[in-house]
Amino acid sequence: MNKPSLSVVIPTFNEKDNISKILERLKETLKDITHEIIFVDDNSPDGTSKEVQNFMRASSQIHLIHRIGRRGLAGAIIEGIFAANSELVAVMDCDLQHDETKLLDMLNLFSSDISLDIVIGSRFTESGEISEKAFSKIRELGSKITTLLIKKILNIKSSDPLSGFFMVKKETFLKSSDKLQTQGFKILADFLATSGKSIEIREIGYKFKNRIVGESKMSFLTVLELIGLVLSQIFQGRVSIRFILFCMVGLSGIFVQLLITGFAMLLINQFPTSQTLGIVAAMTSNYFLNNTITFQERKLRSFDLIRGLFSFYLICSLGALINIATASYFFGFSSNWLISSFVGACFGAVWNFTLSSIFTWKSK
Ligand code: GDD
Ligand code: MN
Repeated sequence: MNKPSLSVVIPTFNEKDNISKILERLKETLKDITHEIIFVDDNSPDGTSKEVQNFMRASSQIHLIHRIGRRGLAGAIIEGIFAANSELVAVMDCDLQHDETKLLDMLNLFSSDISLDIVIGSRFTESGEISEKAFSKIRELGSKITTLLIKKILNIKSSDPLSGFFMVKKETFLKSSDKLQTQGFKILADFLATSGKSIEIREIGYKFKNRIVGESKMSFLTVLELIGLVLSQIFQGRVSIRFILFCMVGLSGIFVQLLITGFAMLLINQFPTSQTLGIVAAMTSNYFLNNTITFQERKLRSFDLIRGLFSFYLICSLGALINIATASYFFGFSSNWLISSFVGACFGAVWNFTLSSIFTWKSK
């Protein structure tokens, strides 16, 4: 088979009923273009990958990457692009919210300008819009404000860095691929911020349509991951989104500890006991939050959930000792309690994170 001129990467999670529809539309739009379509499915419980396989029997242009024990839109897209056979790769959602007919305009832009690296489907440029029913008013406003903030903080030129619809030169993408974060929802923002000014960007407006079947996977967690992405970019990628989420959970633990210690003081009025109760409550809430936020795709359940809790208590208790030891060591020659305490906390956090990633939330 000749190399296709375009690879279309479609990440999926619970999109069974959209597969036939998107394939039909792409067949129509790309009838004169040699192309391949790569679905990247994270073992959707609704049987999306089975549905894709049904279509694969009839067409050699359709491919499937089936990932087990992993979740995450960004990682799925990166793997899809890696697997692509052509020099140009389009990324689009499976739920028909992106306008597939724009793929032809994107291709045309690439053929008229060889220096181009990426064409972004934008909701916020001339002729771009969001269908009235696609987003609630709140999400639309949230999306606009977030877009503005992201553009400013990460110094991105695109009008829609949070878009999930774009066509990119595979070679350009691969250059920054090892710096991209696999956790999270917003691969485009990460890619644009990572590649900086070195790439040539063009935009095409499109109407972001309403999702007809299935549900959006955007959640509170997605928002936290986006904050993680921004902070990680600010630290120039030296800390992962996962570590930032772990630290955010850790901060929330301080409040839990103060709250519970305060309550216990009101009730029993004995300091060491109240403080112990506060610490145990904070470790427990940290554990459950990390289980749903930081390590969502390795989430522990039933018996493992209890075993994990005790390994987390153990790791954090040792972490507290390391915290005290490092802080005291620093205090020995700096005599600055604030800096010493902060350094101790950092060592403790790194210890807790590393050990709990290895022992509590083992990757499969
Ligand atoms: N493999 C995989 N793994 N696919 C996923 C995952 C995942 O963890 N989460 C979501 N997807 C797939 C969905 O099945 C869908 O095809 C696509 O990624 C987008 O997910 P939606 O749940 O439909 O997201 P949305 O509509 O709320 O937001 C989308 O559109 C926005 C505007 O263009 C996303 O593409 C956003 O990134 C984008 O900003
Ligand atoms: Mn969608």
